[in-house]
Amino acid sequence: MNIGNIKDIPRLGARVVKTEQGDIAIFRTSDDKVFALADKCPHKNGPLSQGIVHGHTVTCPLHNWRINLADGEAVAPDEGCAGHFKVDVDAEGELVLDI
Ligand code: FES
Repeated sequence: MNIGNIKDIPRLGARVVKTEQGDIAIFRTSDDKVFALADKCPHKNGPLSQGIVHGHTVTCPLHNWRINLADGEAVAPDEGCAGHFKVDVDAEGELVLDI
């Protein structure tokens, strides 16, 4: 599904897309990569979209687990995985979420 343009998301920010599979957080990193994770931390369902993005990870706002944006896996020593989704960015910056 088309979810807008990369310009709609601030660098190091996120926006939430509502889908039939629940809320999905779309993140933009400082190097203009775009990643999509279920907006639920694998720890206790914290809203990852409100976390702080560093490099290609996001820190959950509730208890500071760090989650890899590329695959949704928690950074060790924590263990768990948020659902992750593929996002394509075309030459105009339009974002297509693959769900
Ligand atoms: S809910 Fe994310 S770290 Fe606890």
